[in-house]
Amino acid sequence: MRRLGALALLALSACGPDMAKGETGFETPQSGSAFLKPDTRALQSDDFANPGFLWVDRGEALFARASEGGPACASCHDGGEHTLEGVAARYPAIDDQTGELFNLERRINACRSRHQGEPPLEHESEALLSLTAYVAHLSRGVAIDVETGGAARPYYEAGREYFFTRRGQFNLSCHHCHDRNWGQSLRGDTISQGHPNGFPAYRLEWESFGSLHRRLRDCDTGVRAAPYPAGSDTYVALELYLAARANGLAMESPGVRR
Ligand code: HEC
Ligand code: HEC
Repeated sequence: MRRLGALALLALSACGPDMAKGETGFETPQSGSAFLKPDTRALQSDDFANPGFLWVDRGEALFARASEGGPACASCHDGGEHTLEGVAARYPAIDDQTGELFNLERRINACRSRHQGEPPLEHESEALLSLTAYVAHLSRGVAIDVETGGAARPYYEAGREYFFTRRGQFNLSCHHCHDRNWGQSLRGDTISQGHPNGFPAYRLEWESFGSLHRRLRDCDTGVRAAPYPAGSDTYVALELYLAARANGLAMESPGVRR
């Protein structure tokens, strides 16, 4: 009953007229880690204790390993001109060859098929999570800076639309919790501004490492709406809106979350 109570309160606070679209409810973005309990935050900050580094290390090993059909990731992205340092902070981004929006997972799979002759890895598979963790980690401390104009515009608009749409049995949108009610307590969490910069991340509740899309599925499920599959077009577009909303915020993956 306590859970219903907390959500009912949020719904109540969400009854007023909706803010104009595009308004974020904060002046400067604040990382989700700022809303964690001190011990969880400390776990993230300690590279030896942070369990996310297991996935970064696995990703680094996969990155260096030659594939069946072609060269290793590392033989093309060996630092120098094709370094991947700072790259993740620009994702999701438009792929020039197809004109489609790629998040990091899609980009990695495109490199596998285009440059290694390998089949795509499944979203949330250990291998794709590890490679994504490794590439994201190469941008740790780099400010998010995604492009929202040009070919990216329709994706950005679709993501923003999703963010402001009420859904589920509780009839709440992302905006209600992460723009209007951040800083409030809910089910043992302090609601953050809902930024993507810590992902992929280790979640204590999952007892595992997961993608941003897995977190989005949890938020949709939390209001009793049907979640989209991880890797879906809907969540990739939403990912772009979230990144744009967080532009300027430093990348933190591998984050640790409750
Ligand atoms: C009922 C309130 C609620 C709604 C609605 C909601 N979330 Fe969340 N969300 C939470 C809570 C609680 C957490 C965990 C604590 C926090 O905010 O980091 C969370 C976490 C997140 C995070 C991870 C932040 C971090 O740093 O770990 C993201 C990203 C996010 N939500 C995005 C969304 C999006 C996008 C939607 C809409 C599809 C949404 N949320 C809907 C309550 C909500
Ligand atoms: C044979 C060389 C080659 C291999 C092997 C390769 N890539 Fe790439 N990668 C490229 C090229 C070329 C691009 C530019 C986009 C394109 O042409 O597909 C690229 C782009 C990227 C980008 C985006 C860079 C940006 O600036 O947006 C990432 C991230 C990436 N690769 C990761 C990987 C990973 C991870 C692997 C291994 C699974 C890998 N690549 C394997 C050649 C390669």
